[in-house]
Order: sequence, then structure tokens, then C-alpha cells
Amino acid sequence: MQDSRRGFLSSCATAAAAAAVTPYFFSKAHTLADETKSATDRVALGLIGAGSIAQANIGVAKDWIDVVAIADVDAGRAAKSNERYSQGKAAVYDDYRKILERKDVDVIHVATPDHWHTKPVVEAMLAGKDVYCEKPLTLTIDEGKLIRRIQQETGRIVQVGTQQRSTFPLFVTAMALVAEGRLGRIKRVQAAIGAAPSSPSIPVASVPGELNWDRWLGPAPAAEYRFFQGPAVVDKEGKEKRPQPNTNCHYEFRWWYEYSGGKLTDWGAHHVDIATWALLLNGQTAGPLSIGGTSKHPVAFKDGLPVERDRYNTATEFLFTVDFPGGTQMVIRNDTDNGILIEGEKGTIFVNRGKLTGGPVEALKDDPLPEGAVAKVYKNLPIEENERKAHWANFLYCAKNRLEPISDVHSHMKMLNICHLAGISARLGRSLKWDAAAEQIVGDEQANSMLGRPYRAGYEIEMG
Ligand SMILES: NC(=O)c1ccc[n+]([C@@H]2O[C@H](COP(=O)([O-])OP(=O)(O)OC[C@H]3O[C@@H](n4cnc5c(N)ncnc54)[C@H](O)[C@@H]3O)[C@@H](O)[C@H]2O)c1
Repeated sequence: MQDSRRGFLSSCATAAAAAAVTPYFFSKAHTLADETKSATDRVALGLIGAGSIAQANIGVAKDWIDVVAIADVDAGRAAKSNERYSQGKAAVYDDYRKILERKDVDVIHVATPDHWHTKPVVEAMLAGKDVYCEKPLTLTIDEGKLIRRIQQETGRIVQVGTQQRSTFPLFVTAMALVAEGRLGRIKRVQAAIGAAPSSPSIPVASVPGELNWDRWLGPAPAAEYRFFQGPAVVDKEGKEKRPQPNTNCHYEFRWWYEYSGGKLTDWGAHHVDIATWALLLNGQTAGPLSIGGTSKHPVAFKDGLPVERDRYNTATEFLFTVDFPGGTQMVIRNDTDNGILIEGEKGTIFVNRGKLTGGPVEALKDDPLPEGAVAKVYKNLPIEENERKAHWANFLYCAKNRLEPISDVHSHMKMLNICHLAGISARLGRSLKWDAAAEQIVGDEQANSMLGRPYRAGYEIEMG
């Protein structure tokens, strides 16, 4: 069983490879790295937000970029990153706007928490910079409208960090199977994305000396800094381990609606993205029409806002159904195997970061995808042979050649709107009807008021 599955996967890999743009995929001598910039003509990158994902991203992009400037509101993190990425030679700021002023910075990487994405992305585009911004691109639906407009007006290249779109052979092969009609008309897609943790009451704590808490909050409502870390525990091997702290700051911001959307946007941005991509490739370009379901939160909500402010508040359980014209449905849930199940009239596939399975995948052994099928879903852009580096290579290639990258802001917002609507529906505890063309919730003034959020005074977007 094991062997035969490995066989299917390697046949997928072969199919993906065969269908890719061969000079880039196969030839070591001519990889996308060479295409992007030569060793003497490297890309100068300004990093905004030097946290955990930035570390991973700089690691995969380092063949092509030099980190020349770093901004973080936590001076300790900025200094550490400077040593790690730039041997201490980068300019370090606590105000990212200083990076945007610099003429020697080619591209910007935004890796701040979600509530701090839209403002630097818009200001970077207006300053003439191309941007790689982490997912989810926005905290609200209205922010997405603004980013799309400014991107169109400035023509800047913006890649969103939904790297599953560049993951071969699994996700992109799955999309090629859909695009080639191997599943027939899709009836239902299901994105299983796990659930947020809950927390105990987290005490107000003194702000660490290196952290500018007011600036970390930025456009979000004023709030006190909270932090608690339990005592170290000794594991089976006798090693002391410190538990993950509970806080409303670094990393854990994801579990607070004030700064994020919980799992609905954190993992929704990955798996709802693939589910929506499948629908688009299957011709389902209109909609959605409505969203409804059930959810549980660790705190009570009133008028869409958490009543208790001392603990994580995003949904810990949820099951949403999204209806599209023609009867197609998307299901977003927390309780089944992490991944995307795509059910078509002719066959069903399941894909996640570790496997691609189902009848249409097995059928590839006898009937491989036609040449060019994978490249077509990848917008006929060259494919970097190193899967881990492919998303960054795609961004740098598109920036150099002025092309729309694989995770463009327009298709990203089409799917992120669904995640944000699920969040609004969860917080209000009712179903919503959606006018996708007008990007308005139908007949629900209170829900419509949650499409955006006012920016805290002093942190408004600077439109130049
Ligand atoms: N693509 C992926 O698979 C993936 C994985 C993890 C995280 N992410 C996304 O990356 C983003 C960051 O997540 P993380 O886990 O690295 O968080 P993190 O808390 O570890 O890092 C964020 C950093 O941004 C800094 N920051 C906050 N406000 C700032 C500002 N105004 N200017 C400069 N720096 C500021 C913080 O001090 C912190 O160092 C999130 O949006 C998250 O969803 C994506």
C-alpha cells in the first residue's frame, strides 16, 4: 500500500515536471535563480517585521537577495535579525517608513502581524516598491478593496505569501487535474483548517524594554500588553522545556480578532485559497451568494465584539457552508483531516502538504496530464525547481519582468473575502447574504459595518 502510494506521488511529480516549462525545471545550469538576477546583480530587500516567518522567508530567498534594511518595533528582534541575515550590516529602524524612503531598496517584504499588513503594503506601493506580503493580505474586506485599487493604479508587483500556490507536485498538480476536467464539474470543495487554541485569563504585564507596544498595536484599538509563561517542565529525556507563552503580542496575536481572524484567515488563507482556485479553474467565477454555519468561541460576543478582553477570542470550532451559483458549495471546517477535498461529478481528490490522493490521481499512471497542463495553471510562468524556494523565485522573476505573480492580490482577495465573511458570520452568530459584485453584505447593516475598521489616530494610511 505504502509503495503504491509512493508510486502515485512520484508519477504526479513526473507529470508535474513533464508539464512544466522544461528549461527552468530541469536544467541545473539555467535555473530561475539565474533568470531572477545574477550573482553580481542582487536584489536589495527591506524587511518589515523580523519575526518567525521572516526568518524562514529570508532563508529561502537568500540566494537572490541582500537584506539591506530591517524595521521591527521590537529592537531585540531587529538586532538579532541584522546579525542573522546581514552580518550586522543592514540599517535598522523601528519605523518602517524610513525603509520606504530609501532609494537603494528594490523590494519590500512585509512580515508583520495581520493588522499591520495593509498600511505598509499600500505605502510601499505608493513609494514605488514591489512587495512580498505575508498572508492573509488584509484584516478586513475594505482593506482588500484599497490594496487592489492602489496596485492597479501604481502597477507595482505584489506577491502574497500563500506559498502553496507554488508547491509542486501536490497543490499545483491538483489544480491541473481540475483544470483538465479530470474531476468533471465540481459539486463541493471542503477546506479543513484546524481550530484556534483557547487560553486562560492572561494577565496584564509590563512591556519588555525592547518593544514599542504602542507601535506594535498601530492601527488596532488601544489595549494593554498581556503575557504569561508557565514554569519550565522537564521532558522524558530530562530536558527543561519552556511552554509557549500566552500573550496578545508575538506569534499568539493570531488568536485575537483585534489583530487577526484566527484559523479562518491564518490557515483559511492557505486551504480556502486552494479550494477557491479549484472553483475558479472549474469556471465558478461568480459568487459566493451566502455563508452560514456554526461556530464556538472561548468568550462571549456582543454586537460582534468579544465581551472579555483578557484571553484568546477567535473561533475554536466551526463548520461553515458557502453557497455559489449553480448549487456548488464550499465547506470550511475545523474537525477533519487538514487539507482540501475536491468532489467532482467524475471523481474526488484530497490534497494537503503531504499527499495528493483519489481516483483521478491514480488514473495519471495510465493517462498523464498533457504537456503544458501544469504550466497553464501556473500562468505559464517559469517554475523554480526547488519547491521551497519557488514562491520567492516567482515573485522576483515577476518583479524583474513586470508580470503578475502567482499569488496576485486580486485572486487572493476573492478567496480572503470568503474567510473574512466567515469571521463576521462567526462573530455575529448568523448567516450572511453576499453581493459579490458590489462586495456588500445584503440586508444587514451591522454586518456591513464590519467590512472595515477605523484606524487608530496616528496610524492612518498615508496616501501621499
Ligand atoms: N506563509 C506562511 O505559511 C506563514 C507562516 C507563518 C506566519 N505567516 C504570516 O506572517 C505574519 C507574521 O507572522 P509571524 O508568526 O512571523 O509573527 P511574529 O509575531 O513572530 O512576527 C511579527 C514581527 O512583526 C513585528 N512588528 C509588528 N508591528 C510592526 C511594525 N509596525 N513594523 C515593523 N515590525 C513590526 C513584531 O515585533 C514581530 O517581530 C502573519 O501575518 C502570519 O499570518 C505566514
